[in-house]
Amino acid sequence: MKTKMMMAGFALVATTVSASPFEKPEDAIHYRQSAFSMIATNFGDMADMVKGRKDWDQALFSKRAQYISTLALMPAEAFSVDGSDKGDTKAKPEIWTDWDGFTVKLNKFQTDLVNLAEVASQGDERATKRAFGVAAKNCKSCHSDYKFK
Ligand code: HEC
Repeated sequence: MKTKMMMAGFALVATTVSASPFEKPEDAIHYRQSAFSMIATNFGDMADMVKGRKDWDQALFSKRAQYISTLALMPAEAFSVDGSDKGDTKAKPEIWTDWDGFTVKLNKFQTDLVNLAEVASQGDERATKRAFGVAAKNCKSCHSDYKFK
């Protein structure tokens, strides 16, 4: 398991940076939790608009969709850090024993968010809401397999 994890980490880091930007595993944990926290704040505001708890604002929605499509690129690097499976984290061990399955879910999440940002930028409210519904399924789908409650 350790070898697989290191290889996954190496493959990811080798294409982007020459050394890990994280000094300690805790830094990696904090980094990915921060990214998810920012995703959730933006996503929550979008959900309020979709559900009518707040006035629809296509420009604001489009901006938030843009933000989260970039934020969703960030956690992968932090999950590939050796030792970040322990400590103050809700990440399940399945992330590392089933790295390929986890990566598939992360990639699908990113793809759906890029699509959402694209659709939102085109200005059609109904199409935007539909794309949001598709993207929203990713949260629960990944959390139920890979995140402790
Ligand atoms: C591919 C898997 C995956 C997807 C998709 C995903 N998450 Fe998560 N999320 C995780 C994991 C794993 C953690 C636990 C990270 C840790 O504690 O190290 C997490 C943590 C979180 C946290 C807690 C952050 C903190 O401060 O500790 C929030 C909030 C969150 N996710 C919201 C969301 C929302 C909202 C979505 C959908 C828009 C989403 N996540 C999509 C895997 C995912």
